[in-house]
Amino acid sequence: MKAYVLTASVARYILDHSTPPDPLLLELAAETARLTGDDAEMQISADQGTFLTMITQLVAPRVAVEVGTFTGYSSVCIARGLAGGRLHCFDVSEEWTAVARRYWEKAGVADRVTLTLGPALETLGGFGEPIDLAFLDADKQNYPGYYELLVSRLRQGGLLMVDNTLRRGQVADPGHDDGATALMREFNDLVREDPRVSVVMLPLADGLTLVRKL
Ligand SMILES: C[S@@+](CC[C@H](N)C(=O)[O-])C[C@H]1O[C@@H](n2cnc3c(N)ncnc32)[C@H](O)[C@@H]1O
Repeated sequence: MKAYVLTASVARYILDHSTPPDPLLLELAAETARLTGDDAEMQISADQGTFLTMITQLVAPRVAVEVGTFTGYSSVCIARGLAGGRLHCFDVSEEWTAVARRYWEKAGVADRVTLTLGPALETLGGFGEPIDLAFLDADKQNYPGYYELLVSRLRQGGLLMVDNTLRRGQVADPGHDDGATALMREFNDLVREDPRVSVVMLPLADGLTLVRKL
């Protein structure tokens, strides 16, 4: 359970009162833990997964983009919410996304997902379609670069979701002055000051920022 920002009991309560992951997502989470060890912590939480599916159903995107796919949990959740659209995934790891590919097949969504391998600052730069919905969950130091690439491609009214923006609450704690926390604070300031968007930060898991292009 990811209880970085909320108290553990509130996070537990939220999980217990949200639609739980189905057997396929539980199997993917278990396999990810077995294969990747401590790196499994990178996977989104179960309540975030339910949220991603619901938001995708509500936005009904024709073009959805994910930057940071890992073993596929968030992409399965987004792809399941699609009704006729496509999800374009970007990641640098052939090894981790091989697991994602297997689970796209198992979930019956492989036909609506495209994977591009390589450093996403470069690969995303070559993506030309207007984006309706995007989920950013890759290397945090490149968030400003990904943000610009994604927001400039978002259609008017399109939505970008950015994960880990509260950094375990450390962004709001002046006692944390390490470089990674400072970078996330700068990123959050940059988003807040961007006149092209409206923004709200949700305390879900490690912090999820919703950015809507005006
Ligand atoms: C936090 S994990 C994504 C977790 C995923 N959303 C999930 O729910 O399982 C971050 C991912 O970003 C990828 N990544 C790191 N640096 C990258 C880069 N420069 N370009 C593209 N992807 C990158 C990693 O390979 C990793 O799979």
